[in-house]
Amino acid sequence: MARPRVFSGIQPTADSFHLGNYLGALRQWVPMQETHDAFYCVVDLHALTVSPEPAQLRARTRVAAAQLFACGLDPERSTVFVQSHVREHTELTWILLCLTGMGEAARMTQFKDKAAKYGESAAGVGLFTYPMLMAADILLYQADQVPVGADQKQHLELTRDLAQRFNHRFGDTFTMPEPFIPKEVEKITDLQDPTAKMSKSSSSPQGILDVLEQPGPLRKKIMRAVTDTGSEVLFDETNKPGISNLLRIQAALTGTPIPELVARYEGQGYGTFKKDVAEAVVETFSPIRERTEKLLSDETELDRLLAIGAERAAAVARETMAVVRERVGFLPKL
Ligand code: TRP
Repeated sequence: MARPRVFSGIQPTADSFHLGNYLGALRQWVPMQETHDAFYCVVDLHALTVSPEPAQLRARTRVAAAQLFACGLDPERSTVFVQSHVREHTELTWILLCLTGMGEAARMTQFKDKAAKYGESAAGVGLFTYPMLMAADILLYQADQVPVGADQKQHLELTRDLAQRFNHRFGDTFTMPEPFIPKEVEKITDLQDPTAKMSKSSSSPQGILDVLEQPGPLRKKIMRAVTDTGSEVLFDETNKPGISNLLRIQAALTGTPIPELVARYEGQGYGTFKKDVAEAVVETFSPIRERTEKLLSDETELDRLLAIGAERAAAVARETMAVVRERVGFLPKL
């Protein structure tokens, strides 16, 4: 039997991915290339919704792709590509937009949150239609499974609704994608505000651990992470959210269960514990940073790898679009 197909995307909106991205996405994607037919996309069209400078968008797209390869995605086994390299994404988006209700789109909580935060006028039509572009990404590749964080589940529901609507109206065309929520989705929070998610858009620089950061600053941020009253290393999300977050980080990076960590640090106070967490982070990130730097030092080679990915992706996308065009009634071009 053919391997199930997996599709996921990540936005090139920062100069580095952070620990939350690493645990929630990148690290989940790597083993799936052994079991799935994997497509991973740097979604630069989505990134355009926050109006980046052109040079910055270009640089961040390369940095994002380099980090994906540096984390262990193998261009031989996975299809890693840049969204704007495959024109079919925008073409299918238009067709899906024509199947989406105004109210349906207006109910997307991520849009509502962003519109509330930046003001209705700053939130453009691009941001409003972002979920339908995401649906196009997924449906173009006939993905069976889509690894996503909890914040993207509603977008996946919309994708399924649109697939079903299209299939019902025009005939069976799209595979119904299932969300793939990784077994232990580690909830990583801001080091300075451990009740808020670690996030590019809302965390302060001191609250976020970047994959490409040097060991010195990484250690410093962890040593200065907000901890809780008391001095015992205990897992207690309500009374000790800071320590609990650090425990989660260390458990995720070392594979040691939290109760075992708690037992190990009994009677030792926060200092030793934090030092060990810092080491676990540095040991994980340093090799990735070094490989990323190496990949970025040869842009021609990096761009060549992305061209191979784009070619493979486009072959699938073209096939889907040929069917879609015929089904919706576009006149064939002789
Ligand atoms: N919207 C997703 C996020 O912000 C990124 C994304 C775009 C995506 N297209 C996708 C994720 C397709 C999964 C599948 O995290």
